[in-house]
Amino acid sequence: MAVLEILKIPDDRLKQISQPVEQFDDALRAFIDDLEETRCDGPAAVGIAAPQVGHFQRIVIVDVSNTRKPVPNHGHMILVNPEITHWEGFEMGREGCLSVPDYTGNVIRATHIKIRAQDSWGNPLEYEMEGYEARAVQHELDHIDGMLFIDRVVSRRTDLFQRKVYQKGGKAKK
Ligand code: NI
Repeated sequence: MAVLEILKIPDDRLKQISQPVEQFDDALRAFIDDLEETRCDGPAAVGIAAPQVGHFQRIVIVDVSNTRKPVPNHGHMILVNPEITHWEGFEMGREGCLSVPDYTGNVIRATHIKIRAQDSWGNPLEYEMEGYEARAVQHELDHIDGMLFIDRVVSRRTDLFQRKVYQKGGKAKK
């Protein structure tokens, strides 16, 4: 296992669209282990996407098991080839990102989504989710399409906020 280097803005590789995973083999699972170790390095991020470490395949990890938000959630998820199949509602919320270390921003996301994905063995997964978990998944799925939350803020003048110091237990990064 290894902690991988995180690409940060303005690295143009973060805009690259990732390719679907076709082989569910040991190399894939070894990469997912490294991606998870990278997510948990330092103050653990809520989510991470493969392209954030320069690996352009459609793989994300989201773990909202430590959130204080009361809505039930699915805890730790490894999502390979994830797709959103249904969106409902919208609300503004604050986001951060390992690839955008100096800022947080207000982003509008769907409040309820349904997703389809595969696990690391290729088995099909289906989840329905809402609130913070739905936001985290939408944020990570953007990464595999080359999008960052700063591309979605309504106004860079009023909706982007400079982080002062990164505090342990503070705003979660994704
Ligand atoms: Ni991110």
